Amino acid sequence: MGGLEGWTPPLEETATAVRACVRCRLHLGRTLAVPGEGPPDADIVLIGEAPGRQEDRTGRPFVGAAGKVLDRSLAAAGLSRPDVYITNVVKCRPPANRPPKADEVQACRPYLLAELRAIQPKLLVTLGAHALHGLVGPRPRFADARGTLIAFEGIRLLPTYHPAAVLYNRRLDSALTKDLQKVAELVREDRARVPRSGRLNARSPGPSRGATRSGRRPR
Ligand code: URA
Ligand code: SF4
Repeated sequence: MGGLEGWTPPLEETATAVRACVRCRLHLGRTLAVPGEGPPDADIVLIGEAPGRQEDRTGRPFVGAAGKVLDRSLAAAGLSRPDVYITNVVKCRPPANRPPKADEVQACRPYLLAELRAIQPKLLVTLGAHALHGLVGPRPRFADARGTLIAFEGIRLLPTYHPAAVLYNRRLDSALTKDLQKVAELVREDRARVPRSGRLNARSPGPSRGATRSGRRPR
């Protein structure tokens, strides 16, 4: 886990630092920087490439056309925005939506790592090849890793397509949804194995496999 040790301010502090950041040239062309967004204890973190036009205008991730596709795919997988934290490899929009350059990814990395350390998600999902390589480096190749489980700093990572790719190639739609269904399934399995504290007591008392003869549940 070595790479994930270090600076871990609360998410809101990271967001504030991102909004004022001038660490790389991308700050020159931005309207608003786009910190990640979502529950601070999310099980799933989705990582995109970089903000686009709508994101640059609003300061929020995945609110444009790609965001609409993402919302539909999440819904088809039984997930919704409040279930996931969404962020990007770089937090400012590159000129004409070009892919972020290596030095920009490097400059922005402390923010992404700080987000991951604060959230400690169960699962990471990179959206598209640039997000995968921005996070893990050149290996594995996107075509080999897409839809499979790999790991980043001890956290399971499932690389999938970028929702914008679905806009250009409708046939990728079902693959993106299938990958997100797999993610949802993995997190469900995880929760069944290690219930969050209080979950066992969440339902009203009654006969259940967890109940003892006295009606009390084992701690
Ligand atoms: N594409 C991305 O990669 N990220 C966004 O936030 C929006 C579009
Ligand atoms: Fe800072 Fe990241 Fe924006 Fe570059 S892309 S200016 S490192 S927040």
